[in-house]
Amino acid sequence: MKNKEIPFVQSMFDAIAPRYDFLNRLLSLRQDTLWRRRAVRSLQLPEKGRVLDVACGTGDVAMEVIRQHPRAWVTGVDFSEKMLEIGREKIRVCGMGASIELKPANALHLPFEENSFDAITIAFGIRNIQDREKALDEFYRCLKPAGRLAVLELATPPEGPLRKLYLLYFKRILPLIGGLFSSNFAYTYLPDSVMAFPGPSDFAEKIQSRGFQNVAFRPFTLGVATLYTGQKPPIA
Ligand SMILES: C[S@@+](CC[C@H](N)C(=O)[O-])C[C@H]1O[C@@H](n2cnc3c(N)ncnc32)[C@H](O)[C@@H]1O
Repeated sequence: MKNKEIPFVQSMFDAIAPRYDFLNRLLSLRQDTLWRRRAVRSLQLPEKGRVLDVACGTGDVAMEVIRQHPRAWVTGVDFSEKMLEIGREKIRVCGMGASIELKPANALHLPFEENSFDAITIAFGIRNIQDREKALDEFYRCLKPAGRLAVLELATPPEGPLRKLYLLYFKRILPLIGGLFSSNFAYTYLPDSVMAFPGPSDFAEKIQSRGFQNVAFRPFTLGVATLYTGQKPPIA
């Protein structure tokens, strides 16, 4: 399947944008901030590095990059204008406007020249894209040689009693809490989309198959999120 994203995703994120940050913190018990911090730490950015954050939403990864690397420059792209609006306001309030630019773009058609960025991040975004090969190819194209990729995504814990407990929370309780604060079906779609996402070793293989090297993955918080890292090969 080529050049496809899941059709309702854009309008879904436009609709939940005002509640997105609040529900993220509540439903993950603030673990999401820790996961983003670790993802950014994995980038090994050069001084004044250029970072592209794809599916940047309300800008949390972009802001974390600047917290860790105040001399970096971040471009965030997302196709939900409402998420971007909230992100721009947060960035303005934190005084990071000179270091971060958020603009509308589709992950499948990134409006950048090849070899533009030292690092590319995507947090909780790749799961919402149907044509993941095309997205990974776009990331590869836009990265400089030796540039680093960090993909942060939700997962489910491995088989065992914890998995049963987690799935009870994830499939039954989370949609109820999400529904209390947002009338949208997003918090029913969330567990379904996580369950449909490939397991960590399969997705790591997919990243590798698009040309990335040193591909690795690391589970966070008992396996409820996974950080995938890889690198575009340096020029030989
Ligand atoms: C779960 S949010 C993650 C936002 C942010 N990265 C974070 O860490 O909170 C997923 C975001 O991906 C965006 N998105 C999904 N598919 C996209 C695509 N094909 N192109 C651009 N943005 C996309 C949505 O609009 C939404 O803002």
